Amino acid sequence: ITERKIDSVLSLMTIDEKIGQLVQYSGKWDATGPSSSVSDQYKNDKLKNGEVGAMLNVSSVASVRETQRIVMENSRLKIPLLFGYDVIHGYKTIFPIPLGESASWDLDIMQQSAVISAKEASASGINWVFAPMIDVSRDARWGRIMEGSGEDTYLTTVIGVAKIKGLQGNDLSNSNTVAACAKHFAGYGFAESGRDYNTINIGEFELHNTILPPFKAAANAGVATFMNAFNDIDGIPSTGHKYLQRDLLKGEWNWPGFVVSDWGSIGELIAHGYASDLKQASEIALNAGSDMDMQSYAYEASLKELVKEDNVALSLVDDAVRRVLRVKFHLGLFDDPYKYCNEEREQNDIYNQAHLNVARDVAKKSIVLLKNNNQLLPLSKSLSSVAVIGPLANDKNTPLGNWRAKGEYNSAVSLLEGVKQAVSKNTKVYYEKGVALTIPTIKPGENQFSTPIEFNTNDTSGIRKAVEVAKKAEVVLLAIGEDAYQTGEGRSQVDIGFKGLQLELLEAIKKVNKNIVIVLMNGRPMDIRSASEMVPSILECWHLGSQSGNAIADVIFGDYNPSGKLPVSFPHHVGQEPLYYNQKNTGRPYGLKQVTYSAYRDAPRFALYPFGYGLSYTTFKYDNLTLNTSEIKVNGELEVSVNVTNVGDREGEEVVQLYIRDLVGSLVRPIRELKGFKKMMLKPGETKTVTFLINSETLQFYSVNKKWEVEPGDFDVWVGGSSKAELKERFSVINE
Ligand code: IFM
Repeated sequence: ITERKIDSVLSLMTIDEKIGQLVQYSGKWDATGPSSSVSDQYKNDKLKNGEVGAMLNVSSVASVRETQRIVMENSRLKIPLLFGYDVIHGYKTIFPIPLGESASWDLDIMQQSAVISAKEASASGINWVFAPMIDVSRDARWGRIMEGSGEDTYLTTVIGVAKIKGLQGNDLSNSNTVAACAKHFAGYGFAESGRDYNTINIGEFELHNTILPPFKAAANAGVATFMNAFNDIDGIPSTGHKYLQRDLLKGEWNWPGFVVSDWGSIGELIAHGYASDLKQASEIALNAGSDMDMQSYAYEASLKELVKEDNVALSLVDDAVRRVLRVKFHLGLFDDPYKYCNEEREQNDIYNQAHLNVARDVAKKSIVLLKNNNQLLPLSKSLSSVAVIGPLANDKNTPLGNWRAKGEYNSAVSLLEGVKQAVSKNTKVYYEKGVALTIPTIKPGENQFSTPIEFNTNDTSGIRKAVEVAKKAEVVLLAIGEDAYQTGEGRSQVDIGFKGLQLELLEAIKKVNKNIVIVLMNGRPMDIRSASEMVPSILECWHLGSQSGNAIADVIFGDYNPSGKLPVSFPHHVGQEPLYYNQKNTGRPYGLKQVTYSAYRDAPRFALYPFGYGLSYTTFKYDNLTLNTSEIKVNGELEVSVNVTNVGDREGEEVVQLYIRDLVGSLVRPIRELKGFKKMMLKPGETKTVTFLINSETLQFYSVNKKWEVEPGDFDVWVGGSSKAELKERFSVINE
């Protein structure tokens, strides 16, 4: 029925109206890319003529209603607008940054945070969000690593699908759900040397095996839209990549949604040196399958002429328009263009206590215990004194992270507030900032893109005061790490260590108190090696969102036993980047005393804290790894089971992880690959038998024959609590 409706709308449209559906403008209130010189009057006229398909960065019921009204009351065909927004980790209730949330390995809770994000955004007039970001990324220098699910393809895939389900629900026409957007298609996370927007040089096989699977799964899960990427891949900019967008996504994968360009990325084909002017850029982009032009003002300027000259087929324009209209029909906008404009919902459904409770739950599950010598943690709530020290200790802003949508400045619960809430009346809580991390340059409410941050490298005056309180306290909680705007778009760094004077602060405190817990707040894997050697305990707390301080206190004082596992490797040194657990073996993997093997002379080859790693206040023992058969056919399946026992004295959750290695292939295969995981609660003394199914989906890869297939041969399988799992078995795959 929808297709017939689309046909009938399409048959009424002029070429200008068709091109208009392929145009997206940013509202005047905000910008998430370089600003343009186009006036509000120009945009207004276009809206009135029905020559705009979507807006972005227009939010609040009043603003959306007003903008939609311009179209509905003035344009000939009254085709409702889409309203897109970057809802990356919450709308006003802010959840942990995606990298942090991914550390929960808890698909249900991640889906739930997406449900709430959709509910809040849609209560504010938004019907389309630019999430999830499913770019696999292995380079800690890349600022946008905070927005994805880390270095692993499988983990990114399953989290992406959970997010899409949460955002879109089962029915896109439900007014509590929104259209999602799988981004950035493709390769953006592999920016060379971690420099944002940089070129990517990656072979065809790596592209298919590592980068594309999350996108294929997103398409299969029915994601409404895709966004393409700023980068080129081996010389072809993603925005102009016909193979990726038209042949693969819309062809082979048969996906019915539309592709939006990234901000200005059609125009950027000129800067890439791939088009000589905006007209040629439009021709390349539309022909390649980029359906909607976000902020390049390219399609409106040249598509009509390109069609007239036969350089762009009208049928391709029609196809793009059809895709946009399809999403609008599925959202129910033709039935009610104002369906997301409900003032009562805007009052009640945003930033309420129920949502904050979930934010706290997600946040505590995202925390990773990296180190806990002598079981310093958890602390007793009735300890005599605790010193909360550091530039981030009483920071109510940084925990909101970058891309915080409508998260209000200074609205997060700080660590100090969380600690004060948790401890008994008699506990003395000291606080000292010690050092400032940054010199404030971004003012409250100011655009995140407007100013780079500056670090404090001069003012040491607070260190002495911090040392004084550290002397008096039983335990020091030292909150250090990264400012919210050290990660995110355009925030790449070559130095991923502690900026400013944070290490100086740690060194000074260490001289007077050894009981230090580093509460690390950050958006990327950092080089924490020297700090790690100095302290007994480290809690990885990312940028945890609105409820940060409460969630951290839940873990510090033992109300919640930490269960997070790293979704990215933490290096010994930035020079190891890009670093990831599923490396290839190389021809010279091992060496004894010689130097002629694949390693560094001044640092280890593998991670300091590896992918999948995270401690608990209890201990889990793995044994009895069993395969129900040692040989299967290429289309067969086998069961792997293992016993997991909680041998400690506290209840706790464990993420049981399954890894495989294809020992010999038509292409070199990684030394291990994550292929499944299960998160489960175990009581003290309890044993659970965990079973995984291995089948052709688990074992296949994009082979030298350029197709997904299982190759016969031997496979190793490991099950354990991290990518360093040691329990191993072997099985063989034989031809049918
Ligand atoms: O959605 C974002 C994208 O991820 C980066 N460039 C701007 C877009 C819209 O704000």
